Amino acid sequence: MDVTLTVNGRQAQVEIEPAETLLGMLRERLRLTGTKEGCNEGECGACTVLVDGLPVDSCIYSAAATSGRSVETVEGLADDDLGRELQAAFVAAGGVQCGFCTPGFLTTLVAVLRENPEPSEPELREALAGNICRCTGYSQILDAVAATISGRNRR
Ligand code: FES
Ligand code: FES
Repeated sequence: MDVTLTVNGRQAQVEIEPAETLLGMLRERLRLTGTKEGCNEGECGACTVLVDGLPVDSCIYSAAATSGRSVETVEGLADDDLGRELQAAFVAAGGVQCGFCTPGFLTTLVAVLRENPEPSEPELREALAGNICRCTGYSQILDAVAATISGRNRR
């Protein structure tokens, strides 16, 4: 079957299997390998992308269900001011170590900060509860978010 959707602002028509996941479509058919495959069970958040602006675990999201929708991946954040600022802040704060979790954190955070530009720490921790990082202990990631927010407030 064919699915027509928008990926990172560009229209795409992709031939898929009916049971294919969004993660498989992105990585195998569209070669957007920035989105990572971790647990494959909706538990780790490494595969997070945005569908119509909301974070989803693409490993358990049907590719067919993206028909007519807009998908944003970490590759698309290169064209997004907030995405670029978060990426730079992650690097500066040491929020990227092995980097495997980073695309999922960045896409989740872009959605969170678009909705609420100044989340409290409890709100942030709750929003990030579905994203697991085995390296950083999370404090550098929270530091990166704080630096992004304060950088935006200074403008
Ligand atoms: Fe999708 Fe872990 S790979 S949640
Ligand atoms: Fe390695 Fe998060 S930086 S899992």
